[in-house]
Amino acid sequence: MISWWKVEFGEIPAKAAYQAVAERRMTMGPLTAAFEKRLGEILDVPHVVAAASGTAALTLALLAAGVGPGDEVIVPNRTWIATAHAPRLLGAEVVLVDVEADRPVMPAENFAAAITPKTKAVIPVHLNGQLADMERINAIAERHGVIVIEDACQALFSRFPDGKCAGTKSHAGCFSFSIGKPISCGQGGAVVTQDAETAKRLVLARTHGVADVTMAYWETLGGNFRFWDLPAAVALTQLDRFEERKAAIISLYKRYKDGLRGLRSIRPLPDGLERGEIPIYAEYLCERRDALMKFLMANGIQARPYYPNLNTAPQFAARNPGSYRNSDPYAEQCFVLPSGPDRSEAEIAAVLSAMRAWESGA
Ligand SMILES: Cc1ncc(COP(=O)(O)O)c(C=O)c1O
Repeated sequence: MISWWKVEFGEIPAKAAYQAVAERRMTMGPLTAAFEKRLGEILDVPHVVAAASGTAALTLALLAAGVGPGDEVIVPNRTWIATAHAPRLLGAEVVLVDVEADRPVMPAENFAAAITPKTKAVIPVHLNGQLADMERINAIAERHGVIVIEDACQALFSRFPDGKCAGTKSHAGCFSFSIGKPISCGQGGAVVTQDAETAKRLVLARTHGVADVTMAYWETLGGNFRFWDLPAAVALTQLDRFEERKAAIISLYKRYKDGLRGLRSIRPLPDGLERGEIPIYAEYLCERRDALMKFLMANGIQARPYYPNLNTAPQFAARNPGSYRNSDPYAEQCFVLPSGPDRSEAEIAAVLSAMRAWESGA
């Protein structure tokens, strides 16, 4: 079976993990600090606070922004549900907005239209590396006193036209290093920010309101959102291969795009690759998606239907009864072909051949 995602580790991370255990690096310590420093250099951002996951990173960023009961947080309808669960678990109401017609990201005007006196924060999502219009979103947010938290969990490789990295243009940006990401240590995350005060609040919230567990006083509300040195040891070896992994992801994406050009039964999403927006998943649309998924599975290939819309989740449906016309085709037709930075040539060839076989019978 060719699974929908593949990321390999190998000897170097294994040795780093062994060494971390041998040196008793079993909590948050110098390797976590080294990971934060290295990520900050790569993203060119002064403050990085590592966290247990991308979800933990989002929760921390919202906590640092003071989001809680009585607040509204605006979220695009197309995203992994973590983006909405983080504010909801803090007691805030999630207000879902529709995405652009041609790209599954939140348009600035839909954000503007959803603002109410209760709006505390907005979370634009750079879904599959496609960048939201941060200039316009930030300008609207500033006018209304709304905090902007970028969800860049799927956009570690993407850059804006001015060269700045995804996740670095707002109050805080969140990243994930879970197993389904091209730079992975199994589970992990980070919040980045330009602002020293925000960084301080993030550090406190990460460990139950203390900067150091030996402190006798809890300064703020918080939790245990800590990253730790064993996965940090692995993550550091992955960051060493940042450019190589980025190139592998781009190359896989282009292989599929070239190899599947001309097929009428599927179509790629318009991408911003030439502008520096790097899709980490090879994402396509197919009107007969469910039949295609079954056909591929029968041929030993697992493709992934790409997310239902958030407004269909029971925990968000009642508060978000509107119509989400632009989101619907994505929920009905989107899927991800087997992706990941460590795909073999044979696997890619098998996927391309199965897709051609599907097309000839479609
Ligand atoms: C867009 C988006 N936001 C948030 C998350 C949450 O990250 P994690 O799984 O590390 O908690 C993910 C993870 O897939 C994601 O894709």
